[in-house]
Amino acid sequence: MEKNALFSIIHALCEKNSIKGIKHQAFIDRFIGNAQLLHYLFSQLYSKREDFDPVFYQMLEVIVKAYTERDSQFLKRDEQKQKEGTWFLNRDLVGMSLYVDRFAGSLSTMPEKLEYLKELGISLVHLMPLFESPKGASDGGYAVSNYRVINKRFGTLDDLKTLQQSLQAKEMYMMIDIVLNHTSNQHEWANKARQGDAYYQDFYYTYDDRSIPDQMEITMPDVFPESSPGSFSYDEKMNKWVMSVFHNYQWDLNFKNPQVLKIMLDTIFFYANLGVDILRIDAPAFIWKQMGTTCQNLPEAHTILQFIKVAVEVATPGMAILGEAIVAPKQILEYFGKGFFTNHECDLAYNATQMALQWDALATTDTRNMLANQHTILQKPNGTTWINYTRCHDDIGLGFEDYYIEQIGYNPYLHREYLKNYLGGRLVSSPSSGDLFGVNPKTNDARISGTLASLCGLEKAINKNDTEAIQTSIDKILLMQANSVLLGGIPMIFYGDEFGYTNDYSYLEDPGKSYDNRWMHRPKIDWKKNAKVKVNGTVENRIFKGLQALLKIRKKHTVFNDSNNVQWLESQNRSVVGFKRTLKEKQVFCLFNYSPEPQNLTFYAFHSIKNEVKKLYNLYDDSYTAIGKDHEFLSFKPYQFYVFLAEKK
Ligand code: GLC
Repeated sequence: MEKNALFSIIHALCEKNSIKGIKHQAFIDRFIGNAQLLHYLFSQLYSKREDFDPVFYQMLEVIVKAYTERDSQFLKRDEQKQKEGTWFLNRDLVGMSLYVDRFAGSLSTMPEKLEYLKELGISLVHLMPLFESPKGASDGGYAVSNYRVINKRFGTLDDLKTLQQSLQAKEMYMMIDIVLNHTSNQHEWANKARQGDAYYQDFYYTYDDRSIPDQMEITMPDVFPESSPGSFSYDEKMNKWVMSVFHNYQWDLNFKNPQVLKIMLDTIFFYANLGVDILRIDAPAFIWKQMGTTCQNLPEAHTILQFIKVAVEVATPGMAILGEAIVAPKQILEYFGKGFFTNHECDLAYNATQMALQWDALATTDTRNMLANQHTILQKPNGTTWINYTRCHDDIGLGFEDYYIEQIGYNPYLHREYLKNYLGGRLVSSPSSGDLFGVNPKTNDARISGTLASLCGLEKAINKNDTEAIQTSIDKILLMQANSVLLGGIPMIFYGDEFGYTNDYSYLEDPGKSYDNRWMHRPKIDWKKNAKVKVNGTVENRIFKGLQALLKIRKKHTVFNDSNNVQWLESQNRSVVGFKRTLKEKQVFCLFNYSPEPQNLTFYAFHSIKNEVKKLYNLYDDSYTAIGKDHEFLSFKPYQFYVFLAEKK
């Protein structure tokens, strides 16, 4: 479309919706400024369609509607965030991911728990899926049957709005999910499709027989090989096969149909206008499908995300986008956008590679794989940031590159076997108690379930009543947290991990959950146990206090803002890994011993600062260490870490 014609359309659309005058100038400027980009991205996806122009116009209408429906307080917040610059790079942001019902009971009792979260140092709350989802076939809420009605179990939309206001009053941020890739097979659209409505059948990938599904399955990996093998399910009523990449009750949306993108964009804005600060886009790697491919990470999936990002930047710019792409390390980076679109796709992504590498280091006591992979991880573009975490509601995948494993001298297959055995409860001598998830007999792939505490040995230690082993597991938990809290990005704590919840096996008694052992690490909080965080010397208290101290350090020092200022130190001791964070004159060294044995590191590790710096101040325990000669040693206790501020005097 010719530039001026496009601008005229936008001006007319704004006029029609009474968007004129100085008050709206910033929006109009953003809209006009991005119009060609929106058009370009949309044409990358749909230019071959005859209805391209009217459908594109409908997209512009969705954007205008989002802006006109935006509450004035959120418009102000947008402005404020824009003034702050890239607000989500700030060290103040520390998240917790939680299920409202399992953590607080309901949305209406959530506000009472905010003080507890604040006390720990949390400023961002990720509310796990809240919208309607059928009982027993919900995938923890990731099978949505209504995107606009809150599941009764949690409360109402008004309760969510009240919670948002309580968060905002406490200067806390809210994050929720949009499940873009699929709906529940009980969503109204699925029901209409089932009844034979062709309009809604086109919302999904439906086939009369198995010929196309059979061909596609040749190249599509199984996501849940145990509970839902294959990527298609047969629907009796419709008498058709439907694509269902995840569980058979999760039907994949067909983004080749622009009406799907339109309705999901409108839903994204509905969430933005609830005051969401960070929108977690669930499973974005899967949103475009193509015969003969893995149907993951396809270029069109990126184009859709870029289109969403630009639309959000125009209408609701205060909402940042997090892409939940748990894919190979190099592919994760592409979700930040590449080439011209660098920094114009997802603002945030999960640092799934680093997370898995920390477990790798803990299980092997060898940090070289972690260090080698930084070559990739550090390519994160300026202005974007990581979500760093040790555990979340999902399993731990070991999807890092074989190449680096080989480089450090291990056989990738045997290496992964060892990790699965050690963490996944298959090795009697291992202190970890986890389980294998998603075991695929065809590929021998498997991931790992278990809470942070159980995987760090706390469950076995408590069962044996072994005081020393309990202390060791606490040290491991805090080492893991320290590594992810001090790195560049937003730490995301998983609820329950802040005070050492061990695996909960009660899911086995619930038929809606028993087929999915990820529920073992999704505890129901017992606030009596939780009260122990205040009782000095308890396990809960030691873990909580340690994490709280780490979060305080992070908050206090500007060096922890994410300005891509992480520099990993050369390896001298394979069990000790470390990085330096620098801001102008200030330098902080974070060093981690992943071994159950004491370790030494020569002071040569600090050679870059040795001429100016005399002392290292440990921010974690308020102690000083004088820098020794190059051949002298800094000693580590088992699983000890240091957070050293380099001091000149
Ligand atoms: C995401 C969620 C996971 C869910 C899947 C399918 O990966 O984190 O819990 O099973 O998407 O929606």
